[in-house]
Amino acid sequence: MDEKILKIRKHLKKKLDPYRYEHTLGVALTCQALAMRYGFDLEKAELAGLLHDCAKRFDGRVMLEKCERHGIVVSEGERRDPSLLHAKLGAWYAKEKYGVTDVEILSAIACHTTGKPGMTLLDKILYVADYIEPRRNKADNLTEMRRLAFLDLDLACLKIMEHILSYLESRDCSIDAMTVAACVDMRRIVKEGADCRLEAKKEEMTDESTGKRNGKNCRRRSGGEKRRGYKGY
Ligand SMILES: [Fe+2]
Ligand SMILES: [Fe+2]
Repeated sequence: MDEKILKIRKHLKKKLDPYRYEHTLGVALTCQALAMRYGFDLEKAELAGLLHDCAKRFDGRVMLEKCERHGIVVSEGERRDPSLLHAKLGAWYAKEKYGVTDVEILSAIACHTTGKPGMTLLDKILYVADYIEPRRNKADNLTEMRRLAFLDLDLACLKIMEHILSYLESRDCSIDAMTVAACVDMRRIVKEGADCRLEAKKEEMTDESTGKRNGKNCRRRSGGEKRRGYKGY
């Protein structure tokens, strides 16, 4: 295992309470699993998972003070609910205290509570991993989200965002504008993906009915023909 990862784990174990530390390990492992599934760098995914809650050991008032001291911009929503600040402050700690310079990792940590429009693959991996990691047990849609995360990451992201928003609305909690903007953007991405797949399916069906593909005549081979064809090699 990488020396840097071992050092960070050791440090986090000292700084975080045991439940937060176990959650952190669960998120790091889930980030790696999703990175394997979607072809992302495993070490970067693990680092993002390990450090995502590194600032969660401070209470809201302390986080607000620290953000102001370090010039971190605080939104209206974050001022109303300073617990959200552990994401932005965590990215600051990852850079300044743990020496992480990779902008993809810092971005994923900074937006892991609210999401944001235009999320990168790592942003989505961390956002989803934080929700589905093995030690989570409260949300009623966990089984479905754990399955969906490995089938369609964008759709899993959207379903989680919608679930969180409806939970917050049902309890009259304040909602950060970024959470809403992230959800609107993810809905657009999922719709565009679905439209694309539908268009491709239509083209495939047209090709099959006309017997043409890319303008050329072609005949679909039966399974038997295919197998016989492969046997020749
Ligand atoms: Fe968090
Ligand atoms: Fe977390």
